[in-house]
Amino acid sequence: MVDFQDLRKEYETHGIDESELLDEPMDVFKTWFVGASESCPAPWFETNAMTLSTSDGKGHITSRVVLLKGVDADSIRFYTNYRSTKGQQLAANAYAAVNFHWPWLGRQVRLTGAVEKTSREDSETYFHTRPRGSQIGALASKQSSELDSPEVLAQIAAELESKYEGQAVPLPEAWGGYRLTPDSFEFWQGRLNRLHDRVVYRNEFGNWARRRLSP
Ligand SMILES: Cc1cc2nc3c(=O)[nH]c(=O)nc-3n(C[C@H](O)[C@H](O)[C@H](O)COP(=O)(O)O)c2cc1C
Repeated sequence: MVDFQDLRKEYETHGIDESELLDEPMDVFKTWFVGASESCPAPWFETNAMTLSTSDGKGHITSRVVLLKGVDADSIRFYTNYRSTKGQQLAANAYAAVNFHWPWLGRQVRLTGAVEKTSREDSETYFHTRPRGSQIGALASKQSSELDSPEVLAQIAAELESKYEGQAVPLPEAWGGYRLTPDSFEFWQGRLNRLHDRVVYRNEFGNWARRRLSP
């Protein structure tokens, strides 16, 4: 069995330099994201994979990984099924938290913010950039609903494949993008002896306030 108490790692990276702390936290995020992408040590690691946490009206929280698919001036985008668990929770509480972890850099980034659906045009445009197999998959899957067997899903996908052969796959009615507009960012850099650096930006009445936090 794994000895969990013995799982321990020292973070020997340098801290967060003041010069990295630009006025706009989205600019810091973009710089860190580019740094993570360019230094990513393994092709299987998706630097744009982020843990997204949502909650329903009763305060029940769920988390899952989704892919970051766009960064705009003051928001980030991801795409999913609107009738999934996350979609239902976002309909009940249009607020979410997102977390990135880039372990080879000893870095974590946390964002929170209000979430809204992107426009139908945006979803349409993104949907048609996806590989055809992924488009068929999105059309076939009633994401987060019960499925009798994997064969049932494969059969639905095969039927849709022949139905739309030679034609564009239509954007599923319940599929599309969400835009999260951060009201807070936290940049975490692991350091020796657990004396990590944490810098949080909070949007306070339209302006970004920046503070360092104890690790
Ligand atoms: C690396 C990775 C990337 C994923 N990307 C997405 C994505 O972009 N959109 C999505 O709907 N689900 C994605 N998933 C699947 C979700 O984690 C999740 O299983 C699914 O969205 C259903 O979640 P829900 O029932 O909480 O709504 C991804 C999973 C992994 C492991």
